[in-house]
Amino acid sequence: MTGPCNMNLTCVIPDDEKGYELDLFCVPKHYEEDLDRVIIPHGLIMDRTERLARDIVRDMGGHHIVALCVLKGGYKFFADLLDYIKALNQNCDKSVPLTVDFIRLKSYCNDQSTNRVKVIGGDELSTLTGKNVLIVEDIVETGRTMETLLSLLSECNPKMVKVVSLLVKRTPRSSGYRPDYMGFEVPDWFLVGYALDYNEYFRDLSHICILNEKAKVKYKV
Ligand code: IMP
Ligand code: MG
Repeated sequence: MTGPCNMNLTCVIPDDEKGYELDLFCVPKHYEEDLDRVIIPHGLIMDRTERLARDIVRDMGGHHIVALCVLKGGYKFFADLLDYIKALNQNCDKSVPLTVDFIRLKSYCNDQSTNRVKVIGGDELSTLTGKNVLIVEDIVETGRTMETLLSLLSECNPKMVKVVSLLVKRTPRSSGYRPDYMGFEVPDWFLVGYALDYNEYFRDLSHICILNEKAKVKYKV
């Protein structure tokens, strides 16, 4: 098949998903008391990411891509996705020159999205004028962060913009925004691990897990 046939396809994690007991996997000792269940084990994240890389190269291949990492939460997904794109570049007839860029946004305090999205660092977006940009994000919840970034970016006239998000939350707070590529659609839970944080904690956890209520108090600011 040709064309962007897999766009908007995603692995749906249902509301009654039980996930896995913590004892079945390795989690850091310092987080054992803080987590309820493992929802997406690291291996499954990697397998899904490998396929997203293939879909992206199929759709954007032939052009130079600037991969724009939304920090901090996007850094693990960004690094692993780019490794898979690099592997395809090394092993396929079609290859995509890749350069990288970073932007730092902040919208969260504790487990609540604040209504303001702040750009708190990164390169000048004006360097993206005329480029094919792939925005790499960890999770889309209300969609406000991505809509803000897309509108900032459009002022710089990039040639093409695509968005890949590892996770998309099913929530009534959503603006309806959907990224071009999505790893998993998840229930309306607060998730941590694989660089997703709660007040900066849990980025050093490999699996995506549910935080328990006690931990929300323990790490509150
Ligand atoms: P949005 O603007 O509401 O779409 O929120 C997007 C940002 O909020 C993401 O880039 C994350 O940094 C953060 N976020 C949303 N949900 C979660 C979560 O469940 N765990 C950790 N961070 C989250
Ligand atoms: Mg983020």
